Amino acid sequence: MDFNLTREQELVRKMMRSFTENEVEPIAAETDRTSEYPAETIDKLFRYGVMGMVVPKEYGGAGADDVCGAIAIEEISKACASTGDIVATHNGLCCGPIMKHGTPEQKAKYLPMLTSGHVGAFALTEPNAGSDASKGTTTAVLDGDHYVLNGSKIFITNGYVADIFVVFAMTDPSKGTKGISAFIVEKDFPGFSVGKHEEKMGLHGSPTAEIVFTDCIVPKENLLGVAGKGFSIAMQTLDGGRIGIAAQALGIAEGAMAKAMEFTKSRVQFGKPISKFQNTQFKFADMQVAITAGQYLTYAAAAKKGEGKRFTLDAAMAKLFTSENAMKITTECLQMFGGYGYTKDYPIERMMRDAKITEIYEGTSEVQRIVISGNIL
Ligand code: CAA
Repeated sequence: MDFNLTREQELVRKMMRSFTENEVEPIAAETDRTSEYPAETIDKLFRYGVMGMVVPKEYGGAGADDVCGAIAIEEISKACASTGDIVATHNGLCCGPIMKHGTPEQKAKYLPMLTSGHVGAFALTEPNAGSDASKGTTTAVLDGDHYVLNGSKIFITNGYVADIFVVFAMTDPSKGTKGISAFIVEKDFPGFSVGKHEEKMGLHGSPTAEIVFTDCIVPKENLLGVAGKGFSIAMQTLDGGRIGIAAQALGIAEGAMAKAMEFTKSRVQFGKPISKFQNTQFKFADMQVAITAGQYLTYAAAAKKGEGKRFTLDAAMAKLFTSENAMKITTECLQMFGGYGYTKDYPIERMMRDAKITEIYEGTSEVQRIVISGNIL
């Protein structure tokens, strides 16, 4: 077993670190303050091959491996978790299922779009189907050469900027999870509209919205995978997405720790920098252990995904561990800043707000514990 990153993976980290320092960090606070989608940064990420990073080169992607994909999200999220989220959703939740379950025609049509400027999203959650994801009521009825979709989806990341959505709907409500199917839906299909834009506690630059289907016409050839296999496609996609959120959580924790180390070295109280107090040092020691352990869990899950093995348990463990540590670490780091940490003069309060969502979306911590215990018992 090789625990070292490859030359390519190290290079991706170096490149993404430099991109983040130059392009992401300078606008992160303003993005949070204005809640503006960082359109220019995302355009650059398309040009640099990060949007669609793991898509094969034949479809315009960078053809990178899954560990590289996780490292890119980790590095971006050190400075801006919103940008990390936009990339993670696009790559993991939209490109991912089309790469895995798409027909050759679907891949030939949609993957080049998703690597050249068209943003992707994933629409599963409904008002009464959150953790209990199979209870959605959006329907898809076959009518000749097309399906007619009716219903709505909420909390959709990239919701009001995306062009292409992977959508889950009931094709046979009598069959429960076996009556759910997946579709590729374009925002310009008749009957598609965007509803409420969410105002959130954190991730202000990540565009979250409701999407609505009113007799939405979806060509029959846009059924993704086999009819009735949609729930399994959703779960497999979320297995991959959870690696992305683990990487995002890692990045948030690392970013917060770096800011806190810098601050505690210059903040003098009781006659010495507060980094000289053993209480501070021991806290940083514990944070470093949690971050390093989280990296091993996350990269191991990504590597297993790349090998084509089942990685459901690995992804759930990585997401659970890193997200709970991101919350703990950002909270501890804010405490080190004292009153300054509670102000908007420092990025630490934003990092703490951003960390919280990693314990909630793409499966709450409780759902990860259901998945983990279900896989080991
Ligand atoms: N891979 C493949 N198939 C899977 C699977 C997986 N990881 N997990 C379950 N399945 C299959 C099962 O094998 C089973 O198939 P059979 O009936 O053929 O045996 C079927 O799916 C049903 O499985 P369960 O009985 O385990 O399903 P459940 O209804 O009990 O649900 C759950 C289990 C783990 C709680 C699941 O509902 C879940 O993950 N919920 C959380 C949903 C979630 O993460 N939502 C996030 C939304 S997206 C988002 O947040 C992004 C955004 O844009 C904001």
